[in-house]
Amino acid sequence: MKVLIMGAGSVGQVFGYHLQLAGAEVSFYVRPKYVAECEAGFVLYDHGRLGLAAPLRFKAEAVLSTLEELERTSFDQVYLCIPSNGLRGGWFGDFAARLGDAVLVSLCNGMDDRDFIAEHFDVARTVTGLITQISYPAPLPGEDVLEPGTAYWFPPLAPHPFEGPKEHVEAAVKWLKKGGLPSKVAHGLSEKSTYPSVVLMTFIMGLEAADWSFAQVRSAANMKRIHGARREGLAMVSGHQKTTTPLALRLLNPMIMRMVLFLATQLIPFDLETYLRVHFTKVGAQTRMYVKNWIATSQELGLPSKHLEELGQALGPQLVASELIDSKAKADSILSASSGKA
Ligand SMILES: NC(=O)c1ccc[n+]([C@@H]2O[C@H](COP(=O)([O-])OP(=O)(O)OC[C@H]3O[C@@H](n4cnc5c(N)ncnc54)[C@H](OP(=O)(O)O)[C@@H]3O)[C@@H](O)[C@H]2O)c1
Repeated sequence: MKVLIMGAGSVGQVFGYHLQLAGAEVSFYVRPKYVAECEAGFVLYDHGRLGLAAPLRFKAEAVLSTLEELERTSFDQVYLCIPSNGLRGGWFGDFAARLGDAVLVSLCNGMDDRDFIAEHFDVARTVTGLITQISYPAPLPGEDVLEPGTAYWFPPLAPHPFEGPKEHVEAAVKWLKKGGLPSKVAHGLSEKSTYPSVVLMTFIMGLEAADWSFAQVRSAANMKRIHGARREGLAMVSGHQKTTTPLALRLLNPMIMRMVLFLATQLIPFDLETYLRVHFTKVGAQTRMYVKNWIATSQELGLPSKHLEELGQALGPQLVASELIDSKAKADSILSASSGKA
């Protein structure tokens, strides 16, 4: 089985490593500036309850960085392991057109990512997955490692769910499980996954606006602002998808959010506050794309977006409301201009 991983970041390396463990021939597709680094090989750390295990090493079969190289090679499965904003650089159509008969496994979970991908690639050969692992560039501040690498942790009882055409989704899950990456076939993921994403990302926006400090984000004013944005975001998803917000998410309130945060800090075997700061600073453009899209969609649907706008503005002056009115297309074009490095 020949696999191509698009994006050799924290997620791509973990998928690549486990697919290679399963016996697949794993190659990467990266920006030219990363080729030498990727060819040198990757160092990974499995994060157990007691800390980071000994370094694990793996090397890709090949590292590709041009469409010409892609055209000359064929793959059985291609994994998209890049942030949602990375998809929108104008390159994806050319990339997708060179994938031959491969099955595309997308781990991009922005609200409109599936529709965007479907414009360029056959839905009958597209599998979509949700990332449940936590992986990050190690060491985090305060951590000790022999050499820099990527640390990963698979939360117990939370396999990565995948959905898509039966034959393809089952093959992807079979290979991932064989390599030890917890995975399962799921149904209704497209409808279900945007709701928890809104819950997580409104919290993350509030956390960023509170200088990434758990102590500050827990304040009544911050929790109220996040709560308002979460409610607007959930209503926007319901209106957009024409589905009902799951009851458990409708019942969330600041007190429950504080409890969830406390439990998460107890269960996760590393410094959650530092991980969130490092990870969501790294993918900050994606956060901004999400909030822009959510505000634009709320406005298109005639739904309130006051709290989302407040949080958006707290993330930076580029998110003033007047920029947002146009539509998601405008948000996309602003971001594709900044991510057009691909
Ligand atoms: N890591 C986690 O714990 C975790 C958990 C849940 C979900 N996720 C999600 O998974 C996605 C990937 O996260 P990550 O942690 O792997 O991020 P990452 O470490 O930044 O890796 C993403 C890689 O993709 C590259 N990339 C982006 N756009 C590209 C393009 N158009 N062409 C080629 N390469 C491109 C990036 O290159 P540049 O650096 O040059 O942009 C980067 O090297 C994000 O959506 C994230 O929110 C991650």
